[in-house]
Amino acid sequence: MGHTDDVSTPILRPGIKTFKPRRSRITPRQQQALAHAGPCLLTEETLDDAWASDSPVIVDIGFGSGEPVAAMARTFPEQIILAVDVHTPGIGDLLDRCRVEDIDNVFVIEADALELLPAIPGPVSGVRTYFPDPWPKSRHHKRRLVQAPVIDVVAERVIEGGFWHLATDWAEYAESICAAFDEHTAWQGGVIPRPDWRPVTHYERRAIREGRAVVDMWFTRI
Ligand SMILES: C[S@@+](CC[C@H](N)C(=O)[O-])C[C@H]1O[C@@H](n2cnc3c(N)ncnc32)[C@H](O)[C@@H]1O
Repeated sequence: MGHTDDVSTPILRPGIKTFKPRRSRITPRQQQALAHAGPCLLTEETLDDAWASDSPVIVDIGFGSGEPVAAMARTFPEQIILAVDVHTPGIGDLLDRCRVEDIDNVFVIEADALELLPAIPGPVSGVRTYFPDPWPKSRHHKRRLVQAPVIDVVAERVIEGGFWHLATDWAEYAESICAAFDEHTAWQGGVIPRPDWRPVTHYERRAIREGRAVVDMWFTRI
């Protein structure tokens, strides 16, 4: 297992981004939520706040929109969810849901997870990554979020007994994820049946509509 304690060392090759540029409009509701975000919207400077209580912190990487995170926050009220994404409308959506639904166990940060992970200041009890962009073309595989160097850094942040739960509708990506985890001495696990508490997201609905099977994977930090 390598070490990436130097926060200035990029996890992937410099310039490689795992997300697609999106220009979706921010709705007035999302704009309002962003403008009046309370202490649950974190920056790298206030990231410590997620660890202010004794509750376990679960990091959701690439949460997309607010609905699934809000559902998970209601299902697991004993957990703090640190939701990370680069997509501003999704950040606004989640902030709005947390305010409307009075959810107090979610923190949100607008950040590239690959830059954030090395800077994470506290123990992580689990990580969730649902439907990461599959980057299906071979020449784009280098842009995949879930690959050996990232698994390595996450292993350094997740406590022993902690987990990384992933789901994808891209069979070949699932195979490559399992193969990369198998190579690691720090993780144990593989494909699991779909847990019924995982919310069905927009991406999952589309996969089902288009006839692609969804694979859930669960790896425990040993
Ligand atoms: C296909 S969407 C899936 C969203 C959600 N997890 C779901 O299941 O509906 C992938 C999300 O990951 C985000 N993402 C990709 N790479 C990221 C990174 N390095 N840091 C933070 N978010 C990232 C994208 O912005 C996008 O919102």
